[in-house]
Amino acid sequence: MEVKKADSTGIKSMYADVIEGLSKSRKELPSKYFYDERGSELFEEICNLEEYYITRTELEIMKENISDISEILGKKLMFIEYGSGSSEKIKIILDQVKGINVYVPIDISCRHLAKSAAQIASEYNHLEVIPVCADYSKPFEIPEPKSEIKHRIVYFPGSTIGNFHPQDARVFLEKIVKVAGENGGLLIGVDLKKNKTILDKAYNDARGVTAEFNLNQLMHINRELGSNFNLDKFKHKAFYNEEKGRVEMHLESLDDQRVKLNGKVFDFSRGERIWTESSYKYSLKEFEQLAQSAGFRVRKVWTDEKELFSVQYLECFL
Ligand code: AVI
Repeated sequence: MEVKKADSTGIKSMYADVIEGLSKSRKELPSKYFYDERGSELFEEICNLEEYYITRTELEIMKENISDISEILGKKLMFIEYGSGSSEKIKIILDQVKGINVYVPIDISCRHLAKSAAQIASEYNHLEVIPVCADYSKPFEIPEPKSEIKHRIVYFPGSTIGNFHPQDARVFLEKIVKVAGENGGLLIGVDLKKNKTILDKAYNDARGVTAEFNLNQLMHINRELGSNFNLDKFKHKAFYNEEKGRVEMHLESLDDQRVKLNGKVFDFSRGERIWTESSYKYSLKEFEQLAQSAGFRVRKVWTDEKELFSVQYLECFL
């Protein structure tokens, strides 16, 4: 199966991002570089962890409400999935949302995408499957489908929206309004504000899978850009920052050390951190305000009993 590939997935773009992030006075790395092949595998493992309530709760909500979701989405749909990770969620949708004619999975990890798209195409042969390998936070083209389409629905599950700072989330949602267009919408998973203990545990699992996921980013950068990060000299650190309403993940330097990257050097003092990810949690009200500011109207919200997580359908108003 042909995979359309955008420029934003290249090494040049990664190099520029990494140099920019490590040159800041408070060092940071973009969380999208977690997802090389190993990173994608580790993330799938995280999704199955007891402590990580997000995936299981979202799945429960989807299963419970799928006929309602199907009705609201309508017919003759192009279903565009941003970051096509878990096949379980998409299968619930492809099995039960009968209005989908075209499925466009978009992912930065081209090999992972090619595998999963081929799998979907073989299981759902009535469906037009058009995989696009791209960084969905950057401009990319949606290919013209052969099938007839009335609505473009962007699907953005897993609360990945939480990995954007709120001002960037607004800009990103505005771009989705443009992609979905008139009569289009967004089906989105949004993690909700909750008790700090639950959140701290979810990002510090007992088996250390999240720690390995966090450190794997350095391995990815070493492999692709030829840097010499020593993984034994950094430690995973994650906590819920209640004041900011976000879980922060960092890699903390265990020593004074110097890292080389293509002739550039980056010095770390002991205890200094690289900020690798933020995971914002929203109240329903806060998210509604954010969605409205970007050009969406909240049509329907589904949650679990404990209100840990929400699945929301937003319509574009253009
Ligand atoms: C992809 N994203 C929504 C996950 C999150 O919870 O923010 C990534 C993750 N980071 C650590 N565990 C999972």
